[in-house]
Formats: sequence, C-alpha cells, structure tokens
Amino acid sequence: MARRKIIIDTDPGQDDAVAILLALASPEELEVLGVTAVAGNVPLPLTQRNARIVCELAGHADIPVFAGSDRPLSRPLVTAEHVHGTTGLDGPSLPDPQMPLQKVHAVDFIVDTLRNEPAGTVTLVPIGPLTNIARAFQDAADIMPRVQEIVLMGGAYFEVGNITPAAEFNIYVDPEAAGIVFKSDVPLTVMPLDVTHKALITAERVEAFRQMGTRTGRMVAAWTDFFERFDKEKYGSEGAPLHDPCTIAYLLEPELFSGRHINVEIETESELTRGMTVADWWRVTDRPVNATFMGDLDAKGYFDLLSERIARL
Ligand code: BDR
Ligand code: CA
Repeated sequence: MARRKIIIDTDPGQDDAVAILLALASPEELEVLGVTAVAGNVPLPLTQRNARIVCELAGHADIPVFAGSDRPLSRPLVTAEHVHGTTGLDGPSLPDPQMPLQKVHAVDFIVDTLRNEPAGTVTLVPIGPLTNIARAFQDAADIMPRVQEIVLMGGAYFEVGNITPAAEFNIYVDPEAAGIVFKSDVPLTVMPLDVTHKALITAERVEAFRQMGTRTGRMVAAWTDFFERFDKEKYGSEGAPLHDPCTIAYLLEPELFSGRHINVEIETESELTRGMTVADWWRVTDRPVNATFMGDLDAKGYFDLLSERIARL
C-alpha cells in the first residue's frame, strides 16, 4: 500500500484521541502531515492542548499541531462536556504538554499544504465539526479539486441523532460548514452513527487495552472507561461507541466497512431537524451522488486492528 498523506482535523475528545493514536501507530501506511484543532467537544484552548498531549503520548512531539476555529461559521458553539468531561479528555490524569503549538492558523496550514503538495495526494480526516475545512474551502476554492478524499466522522441516517433527535453532534455544531463540505465535489467517505454505534467498546475490550502492559494501553482504557459510563446509561447498550477511529481504520483496512454511494444533504434551516444528514439511502431522488455513506462494519476486525496498532505505542 502506498503511504497516504493525511491531515487530522479534530476536537479531542477521548475517541478523537484514540483515532490520533491509531494513525500515529501506523507509519507504514499513513503520513500525518499535521493535526488541526477545532472547537467542538470542548472549546479550542482545550482541544489544541489535548491534541498536543495525545501526540506526545504517542511519542510524536514532532507532529505539528495547529489551532483553528474557535466557533462555528455562523452560530454559537455547542460543546459536549456531558460526554467527555470538562477537559475533553477526562479519565486518566494527564501531564501538561511540552511540545509547542504552531504559530500558523489551522485553516492556513490546510490551504498551504493542499497548494504545496502534489494535487490528489492529501486526504483530510475531520473528526469534529467541519468549521476548519469549510473555512479553508471558502478562503481558497482552488484547493478543493486538489484534495484526494475526505474521510469524516459525522451524521446519521438509521441511527438518527445523538445530540438532538435528528442530528449527530459534529454536523449539528456547524451545519453550515457541513453543507459547504458536502457540496464541495471532493470525494467524501462518511462514517455516520449507523456505523459507529456498532463499534462498541465493551468492558471486555476496555480491559484488553488495560492489560496491554503499556502506558498508552492504560490511557486508552481509562479514556474509554470514562465515556463508556455515559453512553451505556444513554443507549443501554453493552459498551460505548468508539466513533472517530473508524475514519483511520477505514484508511488502513477499507474492507472492514460497507456502505452506499448516495446523495447526502445537510439540513441547515429547520429548528427541529437542524444538522440532519438527509441521506438518500434508498435512492428515491435523482439528486447527484456526493458521498460514500457507510452503514456497517466488522466490529471484531476493527477492535483487532486497534489493539494490534495501539500495542505498538
Ligand atoms: C462525535 O461527536 C463527538 O462527541 C465525538 O468525538 C465524535 O466525533 C460523535 O457524534
Ligand atoms: Ca470528535
């Protein structure tokens, strides 16, 4: 497999943290050009800090981390401390990051990278609200045809919503940004709740990380243990969905996932359904196909991959 260049755009978040670790544990397949932080699960000063903590934990203080948008394009920020805790990475006690935050704004980094790298060689992996990506596309429309692919976590169809009855958190926080991304004509692969609600981190799987005998394994166990409690109460399921690493797992082992090439539109107006991903799963319209919308995953294969890679760190 050719090594793929990626930018991870993120709002860590425990599941974001595991996604970053999975990418950094996979240098044969993935070259992480940078990590760009966005406001989402918690405000930007925390997400950029958390991103640095996670890179350091992975032994990668060399990965440049950039701070981006501190609020959605045109709405007040909605956060999710009720899921992730006040720091966004509640669970284990964490050291202060030592590595610096880059001085360049995340949006400028995204634009410059896409202009400087050969066209079609950089994949964007957004696992938070889509504000940074949309701003980059607004500032520099010339970069859109240069993106190889966007592989994002967001949206839901059969699983409807997790922050409102109709909307998934990442899309709900900045639906206008999502609208720009879904209309960008960039090849789009979407990991909605339909997939991630099958990626359940059960108590047994948490324990397997704890038993790895590494610091990173213990951190992953403590993080997932933390938000597992909340999600178990909410969904009554066996474990919490480990959402964001689905994007990186897809880049490593696409055959773990299956979905449909369909039209997906974003609802931005309605008070009731704002942030809904209106996915034409049954192909009942002739609206143009703009996304590969995933619907299923091999959960065992996913956790096997995660365990094998996280154990390397
Ligand atoms: C998404 O929202 C966040 O809370 C998680 O990190 C994930 O990206 C799931 O809806
Ligand atoms: Ca996230």
